[in-house]
Amino acid sequence: MDILVLNGPNLNLLGQREPGIYGTGTYADLCEKIERKAEELGIGVEVFQTNHEGVLVDQIQAALGKFDAIVINPAAYTHTSVAILDAAKAVGLPMVEVHISDVSKREDFRQVSYIRAACCKTITGHGFDGYLEAMEYLAEEM
Ligand code: DQA
Repeated sequence: MDILVLNGPNLNLLGQREPGIYGTGTYADLCEKIERKAEELGIGVEVFQTNHEGVLVDQIQAALGKFDAIVINPAAYTHTSVAILDAAKAVGLPMVEVHISDVSKREDFRQVSYIRAACCKTITGHGFDGYLEAMEYLAEEM
């Protein structure tokens, strides 16, 4: 099994970005944890981050035929992007939505998730471990 892990805007700034909300681990730390987990599960993984909505759409489209499932943290685009939802629905790959923070306990504008309609599971508020839980879920269930 090969999993694509997609990260949206500002997640490259993990570590320095609002550490009270997102923790002190860096984006490089997150990538390392994900790669270690993939080795442990005996699966392939590619981790990607972009600050651009269209690049996320391109990545989702390109995943078809190359990956078996997607773990996605669209970051702020979670709450705004119909384009990312449409791309996810178009490719139809199993997808898990992950958020580092517990978005359900944050501002009203974070209570909407467009991508959720294309996801078989959502994990929020488990920090970096949420990505690992998503990978375990996909490796077991798909
Ligand atoms: C986030 C939550 C979003 O509301 C926010 O815009 C992010 C990160 C999270 O991982 O907790 O950038 O997706």
